[in-house]
Amino acid sequence: MERKWWKEGTVYQIYPRSYADSNGDGIGDIPGIITKLDYLKNLGIDIIWLSPVYQSPNDDNGYDISDYQAIMDEFGTMSDWDQLLQELHDRGMKLIMDLVVNHNSDEHRWFVESRKSLDNPYRDYYIWRAAKADGTEPNNWESIFSGSTWQHDEQTDQYYLHLFAKKQPDLNWENPKVRQEVYDMMTWWLDKGIDGFRMDVINMISKVEGLPDAPNPEGRKYASGGDYFMNGPKIHEYLREMNEQVLSKYDIMTVGETPGVTPEQAIDYVNDDRHELQMLFQFELMDIDSGPGGKWNVVPYTLTDFKRIMSKWQYGLGRGKGWNSLYLNNHDQPRMVSRFGDDSTYRLESAKMLGTLLHTLQGTPYIYQGEEIGMTNVKFDTIEHYQDIETHNMYNEKVHQEGQDPAKVMESIYIKGRDNARTPMQWDDSEHAGFTTGTPWLQVNPNYPQINAKQAVSDPNSIYNYYKRLIQTRRDNLVLVYGEFDELLSDSETFYAYTRTLNEERVLVILNFTCSDQAFELPKEVTYQTAELLISNYEVDPAQDIRNFTTRPYEARVYRLN
Ligand code: NOJ
Repeated sequence: MERKWWKEGTVYQIYPRSYADSNGDGIGDIPGIITKLDYLKNLGIDIIWLSPVYQSPNDDNGYDISDYQAIMDEFGTMSDWDQLLQELHDRGMKLIMDLVVNHNSDEHRWFVESRKSLDNPYRDYYIWRAAKADGTEPNNWESIFSGSTWQHDEQTDQYYLHLFAKKQPDLNWENPKVRQEVYDMMTWWLDKGIDGFRMDVINMISKVEGLPDAPNPEGRKYASGGDYFMNGPKIHEYLREMNEQVLSKYDIMTVGETPGVTPEQAIDYVNDDRHELQMLFQFELMDIDSGPGGKWNVVPYTLTDFKRIMSKWQYGLGRGKGWNSLYLNNHDQPRMVSRFGDDSTYRLESAKMLGTLLHTLQGTPYIYQGEEIGMTNVKFDTIEHYQDIETHNMYNEKVHQEGQDPAKVMESIYIKGRDNARTPMQWDDSEHAGFTTGTPWLQVNPNYPQINAKQAVSDPNSIYNYYKRLIQTRRDNLVLVYGEFDELLSDSETFYAYTRTLNEERVLVILNFTCSDQAFELPKEVTYQTAELLISNYEVDPAQDIRNFTTRPYEARVYRLN
């Protein structure tokens, strides 16, 4: 397998609004990020992914861009951004930017023009349609943020398509002018020296011709149109064109966000021969607890469900077929330790165990800000304390339109709401966790006196210092980067265990996913002379025979087998 920096590196995602506020306005900013670069370098981070910092009215916190080539005023200036890039490069770190081109903002100048008249030169930059003969929306698709995907516009008495919020009109990728504008903009950023892109919902840019109604067996007001806009008919044509015109000219990293993609489909995006992207963010694990009613309809799952998904992707993109991206949370998902671990009694142990998983599977690990100190989900008393548009739209629909019990809806927000991940970064135990001297745009999680970076950096037993060792261990052992994955004990509801093999080298990983002591027995087929402990989240007796031993709650061990 070909060695690549983006396979060997560790990525850290920054959600700028919540990271570090330098000027006391309660909103994180670029100068704030710059003050934290040594913290990140010390952790061992190679690559920063910056969520959008572009000019935006912030209906969806920057994922609604009104100017792709300007920095949001609240975040600073272009010269602050230039300094950020320089300071990262000076430290030997790389920067990847968020590319949001499925849609932009209704305040983008293209849309301001587009909506003016039917014959405006920008009309065809977006997807406009007339009402159906019966006067209803052009089709029945449901927006990912609730309600219809169509918004009526008085000016021309037509509707425009928005898969997300109504202030996020979808761009019309059928129009070659739109594609050229996007490629030119990407080239402009790459020529400024960035090291790649994370591409927002990139598998939604090609819609099925005719935009047909989605099946609606339950007779709901709107229906999921995913099959008509995810992995659409021209997606690979567009990505190859983008690759040929832009991406192939630079030594960069690309990761596409692609909900609803299977490993088979993923190969078509990331296999080297395809000349499209390098990695994808797939959602199978993120959807593990979503019921028939979607993400807010939370259902239980088992460890074997969890492992089946993870292992399927390991095999699916392994052995040279592609390359995995590995993540357990991000700015759209609940906190990893609250969701897959235990955020009370065994917070330290389970966060370290999950971190061990992240850094020992095959793929590039992505750490989301605050994960490295074990930040947890949050519970605010009332909906008013939440800021996220997806959360509010859902709450309004379920409580005010459908009459559901508000307490029940709040429960689902506590488990799945995006603001769980967006509470300000907890830097220390001073007021507002040291995030701001002003009033934070979203309240700080009240557990900051115990959970904060200052404590974590100075405590040798912290999650932060364990992550530091994990990153170093992966760096020192190429078998952890490139080695082939083989699962052990796949039926176990207690352990996730696997080996990684690269030529003569082999590593064994044992993870206890439960909150109790569990007897571990190594399958007979795993033979070895000596087992050398590389890392563990507990004290381990080096002389212990690992064929049979008792693991402690959420214990994680990684051995090199000789
Ligand atoms: C995915 C992003 O990660 C999310 O935050 C955003 O709301 C949607 N795409 C729309 O851009």
